[in-house]
Amino acid sequence: MTEKLWGGRFEASLDEATENFGASIKFEQRLAYFDLQGSLAHAKMLGATGIVTDKEAQIISDGLKSLQQQLLEGRIEFKTENEDIHMNMEHYLREEIGPVAGKLHTARSRNDQVATDMHLYLKSVVHQSLEKLKKLRTTLVNLSVNHVDTILPGYTHLQRAQPICLGQHFMAYYQMFTRDYERFEFNLNHIDINPLGAAALAGTTFPIDRKLTTQLLGFSKAYDNAMDAVSDRDFILEFLSNASMLMMHLSRLCEEIILWCSQEFQFITLSDQYSTGSSIMPQKKNPDMAELIRGKTGRVYGNLLGLLTVMKGLPLAYNKDLQEDKEGMFDTADTLLMVLSVMDGMMSTMTVNVDNMEKATHQDFSNATELADYLSTKGMPFREAHAIVGQMVLHCLKEGKYLQDVSLEQYKAMSPLIEKDVYEVLDPRVAVARRTSLGGTAFESVRAQIKQAKSELRR
Ligand code: ARG
Repeated sequence: MTEKLWGGRFEASLDEATENFGASIKFEQRLAYFDLQGSLAHAKMLGATGIVTDKEAQIISDGLKSLQQQLLEGRIEFKTENEDIHMNMEHYLREEIGPVAGKLHTARSRNDQVATDMHLYLKSVVHQSLEKLKKLRTTLVNLSVNHVDTILPGYTHLQRAQPICLGQHFMAYYQMFTRDYERFEFNLNHIDINPLGAAALAGTTFPIDRKLTTQLLGFSKAYDNAMDAVSDRDFILEFLSNASMLMMHLSRLCEEIILWCSQEFQFITLSDQYSTGSSIMPQKKNPDMAELIRGKTGRVYGNLLGLLTVMKGLPLAYNKDLQEDKEGMFDTADTLLMVLSVMDGMMSTMTVNVDNMEKATHQDFSNATELADYLSTKGMPFREAHAIVGQMVLHCLKEGKYLQDVSLEQYKAMSPLIEKDVYEVLDPRVAVARRTSLGGTAFESVRAQIKQAKSELRR
């Protein structure tokens, strides 16, 4: 017999390097509070069902509460020799209340215990993510409200395409973040399930009350199958996948911020609070935070791929491989929560250079579609209109002018269908205003989207 909690059938103690290798306490300390919460519910249930006496349940609960207090005061020292969070806590409970601490593990295994901790932890992380994401969605709606009259060139292939309303651009991200939000909400359905009472894999012979622990821990239901409860980590994978999708959206927005604050675009100016300088080039003001968010997307994807790979060949039920679910999940949670705060701060403090955006729409051919549409409304087949406008663009490029600079005579020569009213159509503001199709970039359409978003945010 060795000193370990599981040492009964062992004759020799664990090799030191092996002990270090197998121990998870160094990275799972943050589960301590949740572990104690799970134990408190379990102890109460053991008392309520008569598996331990009321008095024993009371002593155990008091001991656990004292540990909670010591934890909050930073007085608990986690030890590698106690391997993981569960055995560290049990070790201190024994120091606190003596051998009766040994009754706490009745009808329980570390397998259901760790799964419980992870569900409790992730539930709190997802709630925090939802809150921060809602704040970011609100910031985007506020930006859209402020810029429902701002126009800029819209791009495809990063080439000027058609003029758009800036509010439309921000509302596009609002929509993406709203779907991300819904994905996290859905994820909660799978996180909000209680694994406690599954025991090692097969349930238990003790008359436990899983409904009671479910209620005490605030879960909406208990796992129906004990093997499933201790074997799967799909609720974490779903979180990692949702986080990856969200990071992808954030990263795209960051890429645009980086472009937009470049000398070439000058569409926005980031606040000093969210920019950094260069150690050699005195003039520099870099969008480091946007770049870092774009960069951190990589590790979030990596954590998803890492755990998917860990899981793919595991036979039921618990395997030690599952311990590898933690570091990536913690890393993604920490990254996501930080990123959401920084992103919101960066977006809500940036300055939009409204005049530069509008000016840009007068210095391109993003009104070429207007001209083709104008001709086809007058009866010319669109394909034909497309071709002659293309020729006119080529002509302008050679002459160094834009479509609005072409004289009416020249337009008449191009097609007799063209009248003086063509210049109004070529005005980028008019081009935006006229795109009133459902979801289009027209100012009134963006206003309608904002109205809808505001009512979504009130929910
Ligand atoms: N540290 C383990 C984990 O993270 C806890 C469960 C250990 N269970 C076991 N049978 N070894 O998964």
